[in-house]
Amino acid sequence: MRQQFNHLLITPKPFVKWAGGKRQLIPILSENLPQTMGTYFEPFLGGGALLFHILSERNGQTCGISDLNSDLVLSYITIRDKPAELINSLKNHAKNYQKDSKSYFYSIRESNPRSAVEKTSRLLFLNRTCFNGLYRVNSKGKFNVPLGRYTNPNIVNEENIRSVSQILQSRKVSIKCRDFESVLGDTKKDDLVYFDPPYQPVSNTANFTSYTHKSFTYGDLKRLAKLCLKLDSKGCKVMLSNSNSQEVADMFAEKQWRLKKIKVNRSINSNSKKRTGHHELLIKNY
Ligand SMILES: C[S@@+](CC[C@H](N)C(=O)[O-])C[C@H]1O[C@@H](n2cnc3c(N)ncnc32)[C@H](O)[C@@H]1O
Repeated sequence: MRQQFNHLLITPKPFVKWAGGKRQLIPILSENLPQTMGTYFEPFLGGGALLFHILSERNGQTCGISDLNSDLVLSYITIRDKPAELINSLKNHAKNYQKDSKSYFYSIRESNPRSAVEKTSRLLFLNRTCFNGLYRVNSKGKFNVPLGRYTNPNIVNEENIRSVSQILQSRKVSIKCRDFESVLGDTKKDDLVYFDPPYQPVSNTANFTSYTHKSFTYGDLKRLAKLCLKLDSKGCKVMLSNSNSQEVADMFAEKQWRLKKIKVNRSINSNSKKRTGHHELLIKNY
């Protein structure tokens, strides 16, 4: 039972570019969604590509979204609650950036604003103007991506901010900053949980795990696999994305898991020639 959401000016889409973002995989992820579900949970939210797709397609869908990155979670809350103030602050960044992009970028990168609006507009500004539009922090949690080369970055995407704000306000979407394992306490039979964790590296050089000050370890993957079993025995529907690695396949070897190899184009690689097609895994219990 799908209904279009008609009241929005434009369809809301991710407001940050995020490593591992799922926008290009929406058609295939959408095909793999169950026809019906209770609440939709996304505990590794990132840019929320699938969340926005589901919210736009399924009117009345309740959702529980979370991520361990507190700046990111704050951005969702600020966009929901203070879109006008946020847009004004971004306009201010855009004006200053036009005057002297390099020194302005680094002064904002060094800054540590206190208010939710200023923190969020800093994150969005840096995301639009930094190299490759990435979010990456060092072990102290400090954003460390250099200035990107853009002639005219779209710093204030006003229409999308308003659209995201409207859909988050008008729907039952709970937004939390927490570790993925806490989702267990919130879920009931027939809920869908989609896990899109930082991927297991397929090689030692392919490691990109710095979305937060803590990297995602093999131990975390084991915790995740155990959690998936618990959710399965509760009667939840579980879908998980990960790299096409033996480690992951071995962890989901029990009979309830269906593993599919899907083809994707890599977008995170500093060498654009290496951004070629590769496969990843989509794992489901339904
Ligand atoms: C692959 S990204 C998700 C991409 C997202 N599906 C999208 O479309 O943009 C993984 C996310 O997991 C978050 N994360 C890392 N460790 C976590 C943990 N222990 N618990 C919850 N979230 C975590 C990161 O902050 C990051 O946003």
